[in-house]
Amino acid sequence: MITIGDVNGMRGWYRLWKKYGRTIGFVPTMGALHAGHLSLVQRVRERADAVVVSLFVNPTQFGPQEDFARYPRQPEKDFALLQGSGCDLVFQPKVETIYPPGHTTVVEPGGPAEGLEGALRPGHFRGVATVVCALFNLVRPDVAVFGQKDAQQLAVIRRMVRDLHLPVEILAGETVREEDGLALSSRNVYLSPEERRAAPVLYRALQAAKQAIAAGERSGEAVRRVLREVLEREPLARVEYAEVVDAESFQPVATVAGSVVLPLAVRIGGTRLIDNVQLVAGH
Ligand code: PAF
Repeated sequence: MITIGDVNGMRGWYRLWKKYGRTIGFVPTMGALHAGHLSLVQRVRERADAVVVSLFVNPTQFGPQEDFARYPRQPEKDFALLQGSGCDLVFQPKVETIYPPGHTTVVEPGGPAEGLEGALRPGHFRGVATVVCALFNLVRPDVAVFGQKDAQQLAVIRRMVRDLHLPVEILAGETVREEDGLALSSRNVYLSPEERRAAPVLYRALQAAKQAIAAGERSGEAVRRVLREVLEREPLARVEYAEVVDAESFQPVATVAGSVVLPLAVRIGGTRLIDNVQLVAGH
């Protein structure tokens, strides 16, 4: 496994790799890796000759009141986890490598970027789309994988790739969960023991809503109510949204039909958690 941090180093590497007709798989991350990230490496490994993982805590996707400064950073542990994981190259750029002095150009996503996370975290998806576009240009992947846990981010990236004709295939990686259902996230380290015990309420709410849909419930409002009822029983939980949206547009649906996502954002004490399930409902 090799590490590269600069633009020329990356260009030299991908030119050489592509000269021999080899394909590149890519897993963009902000570090603080866990088993969920390693499953993304495995997912893309099956589809590419070499796998690049980027470690870059992207400042532009954090709002002024958000956790950029305290976001967990553990590069040595990340390298140790990536050894033997199927990763061939770690791309670890500095902020000024991604955003050269005088940087002004951004990617402003619309459509699926507008509601939910986009509404509550203004500028977040602009930061995500801009950095992912820059990373795609630096790594030149044939295929890239994003976790289904950030379902709205995945929809925004898919839309951007289509709209800008970016020559990369996007894969979704399944959410990896703890035994009690809590989705793995780099931010779970913020949870106190008491909050950690409360956190699986997101998973329970999603399961209850999924069961209601499996039993024939097709009203978007009724499914939202099921989600809220479960979440509101947990005293430490403060619901930011509990929605039923179309999987592509991320617009709320009145009737649950076709491919839908049930996304949640919930504060457990001081920690903001997101989770979702995606399902296909018959009419
Ligand atoms: O999902 C993440 O970790 C980040 O949003 C990403 C895609 C690496 C962009 O900074």
